[in-house]
Amino acid sequence: MSARINPSILSADFVNFERDFGSISNADLIHIDVMDNHFVPNLTFGLPMVARMQQVAPKPLDVHLMIEDPERWAPGYAEAGAFSVTFHAEASKDPVALARRLRAIGARAGVAIKPGTDVEPFLDILAEFDQLLVMTVEPGFGGQSLIETTLSKVAAARRRIDAEELDVWLQVDGGIDETNIERVAQLGADTFVAGSAVFKATDRAAQIAALRDSANRGCSHR
Ligand code: DX5
Ligand code: ZN
Repeated sequence: MSARINPSILSADFVNFERDFGSISNADLIHIDVMDNHFVPNLTFGLPMVARMQQVAPKPLDVHLMIEDPERWAPGYAEAGAFSVTFHAEASKDPVALARRLRAIGARAGVAIKPGTDVEPFLDILAEFDQLLVMTVEPGFGGQSLIETTLSKVAAARRRIDAEELDVWLQVDGGIDETNIERVAQLGADTFVAGSAVFKATDRAAQIAALRDSANRGCSHR
């Protein structure tokens, strides 16, 4: 398996998404950060814009919902054709029920946990999800530094996924760059969101390829 690099368009030019998609077309998926200024203190865009991105994006969409009341909103993203829809456990009344609804619509279902949220309760129900997103920064803003203490959750989730031979992607998001991606891969992540690390590069496609190479090196040394 090859590590996945999902650039976050939170670091793209907000009036030139289509142009910026062209600079990241060798991505595995395109990470779309939906923020509602309630679950996180920042506001991005909602379903109408993501539905339009879905039509012009060069790769499947990996939607990350940092919103309250995902039961109300998340199914709409799946219906719009998003390949993967990840909602926050802290905002959901019943993560398993919501994941089942997303899967029934045809999307991959992901559950995300903030840095302060314990991973343990989710380890026993991992099979209900297609992806576990361990946030490596407090959600809300790009360009922050990775919080090292979150990495023990990555390692714990990897142990469980491997022990039970689960087909669950283990995603990290926040502060991932060329200085740490190999180490985070070695600890167990296989799917990497990178916002500023990709968009600050003059050659974004080359940066994506370099990040993927480093991540694959880490995965092979597990
Ligand atoms: C933060 C978002 C991230 C963000 C990552 O809340 O979920 O996807 O874009 O940005 P970097 O890679 O710059 O930390
Ligand atoms: Zn994100």
